[in-house]
Amino acid sequence: MAETPEKKIKHVAIIMDGNGRWAKQRGLPRSEGHKEGAKTVERVLKAAKAFDIEYITLYAFSTENWKRTKDEVSGLMSLLKEFLEGNLSFLKKNETRLRVIGRIDDLPYITRTVLKKVIKDTSHYTDRQLILALSYGGRAEIVDAVKKIATDVENKELSPEDIDEKLFSKYLYAPDVPDPDLMIRTSGEMRISNFLLWQLSYSELWVTDVLWPDFGEKDFEEAIKNYYKRERRHGGV
Ligand code: IPE
Ligand code: IPE
Ligand code: MG
Repeated sequence: MAETPEKKIKHVAIIMDGNGRWAKQRGLPRSEGHKEGAKTVERVLKAAKAFDIEYITLYAFSTENWKRTKDEVSGLMSLLKEFLEGNLSFLKKNETRLRVIGRIDDLPYITRTVLKKVIKDTSHYTDRQLILALSYGGRAEIVDAVKKIATDVENKELSPEDIDEKLFSKYLYAPDVPDPDLMIRTSGEMRISNFLLWQLSYSELWVTDVLWPDFGEKDFEEAIKNYYKRERRHGGV
């Protein structure tokens, strides 16, 4: 049966792209674009709360982003630490639980320490979640799930006949989180870039040319409103 467009949007996933281009247009170093992009995150979290969106997943650093220069990577890691320290009170005030998906062990020790603290300090909130994708890759997530499944089969805790889509989903990084209803990408690129490959299979997509540092409440609202105009068929008629 076709899903009616009024079905409430629960989960929005965002590929925050275009920080570098924003900086380049202004003759600034890429790091300035990232700094400005961090301010957009705060704006979007406020807007998400206003729209009563339960889950926001932000693609902050991909498994491929490690290929960037050492300076850019370390700049992004420090910015992440600053962002977390600067926003802990905001997350608490808005009763938002922070979670992370990705290969967290790849992150620098200090970043992991701050992350763990914020995750712990917000773990009791149940109404709203901010999920940061860090050192995240959709393929890495699938591979990590396969490894865990193989281990369980090897230990006779699971038999191959038990493996179906539902069981597979349970081995992903955040198994309880519903698939995104809407995926937004800023800066015009029409690609997924290894984001949530499994979970996006039936998500609605919204690509805007607006660069992430320029993305505001109005742009977010436009994406949400457009979502409600769509008919989600999920392969039905
Ligand atoms: C997104 O902006 C931020 C990260 C990937 C961390 P980019 O840095 O990719 O910006 P562009 O695509 O070069 O403009
Ligand atoms: C995707 O953006 C990753 C994040 C936003 C963290 P990229 O800028 O890395 O993706 P490509 O290179 O345009 O595919
Ligand atoms: Mg980019």
